[in-house]
Amino acid sequence: MIIGSEKDVTTAVLSELERTKNPRLRQIMFAFVRHLHDFAREVKLTEEEFQAAIGYIVALGKHTSETHNEAVLMSGSLGFSTLICLLNNGNRGQTETDANLLGPFWRMDSPPTPNGASIVRSPTPGPALFVDAWFRDAQGKPIEGAEVDIWQSSPEGFYENQDPVQADMNLRGKFTTDKDGHISFRSVKPAGYPIPVDGPVGELLRAQGRHNMRPAHLHFLVYKPGFKTLISQLYAPDDKHIETDVQFGVTRHLIGDYVRHEEACTRAADVKPPWYSLEHAFVMENGTARLPRPPISGKAQGERPAIPHLEPAE
Ligand SMILES: [Fe+2]
Repeated sequence: MIIGSEKDVTTAVLSELERTKNPRLRQIMFAFVRHLHDFAREVKLTEEEFQAAIGYIVALGKHTSETHNEAVLMSGSLGFSTLICLLNNGNRGQTETDANLLGPFWRMDSPPTPNGASIVRSPTPGPALFVDAWFRDAQGKPIEGAEVDIWQSSPEGFYENQDPVQADMNLRGKFTTDKDGHISFRSVKPAGYPIPVDGPVGELLRAQGRHNMRPAHLHFLVYKPGFKTLISQLYAPDDKHIETDVQFGVTRHLIGDYVRHEEACTRAADVKPPWYSLEHAFVMENGTARLPRPPISGKAQGERPAIPHLEPAE
């Protein structure tokens, strides 16, 4: 159709979208175009703002590499990743769920590690942490033979893939649940960490007066045919950013029971107090076992990055 006024543009695009054969793609693109056009009308987007937005999208791509995914970071920083997670788990958002964000740091091919072993693969100072996790189906029956990927930041706040100082795959491991649906391992207590702010996400956070910290957490990815792949995180309640996670990942159900011990450690002779223990029982939903697309594939080389901490505005 020939466009006569601003109102006609939306009609013209939607009428061309009628040709879309895939019904789901058609539904998504119809709604997307309607909301996108209405958004521009609502805020009366100027030409300069539009050019800035295009530059912003280009910058998301330019700041993405084998070791960093700026698009995932942006989605999290807008709460969109958590919204999608909660809309798609726990009976479509009706009940509590162990599902949480994948985040930008999962790597394929974590080293297989026996139950009870350590995932500390190069010297990593910090308080010892002993984790016991159970995986059950919706009826409470233990799930045996599930593969459980674990990954976490060091107490200095770096994932090994960001940090050339750490050994390859440090603080990562793949465990297999036993007949009780149980895994256990030793690690160090994770620390909260700043997300990188040298790209468009940093620009956004500065403009919004926000800090760039994630509260301390452990990541889980659990795979077993017959169950929906469970992606989860357990957050440390003593972290000062627990209520203001820059990625909006913290849900009440996933605040972990990290217990601090001042007494001598009964679990390993070389551990000095204080040390920590953590127990959690996860529920897996029935569904299709699918691995997500790995957001990164490599490990950083050269110097350890210096990631600034942004101070929140008062
Ligand atoms: Fe993380």
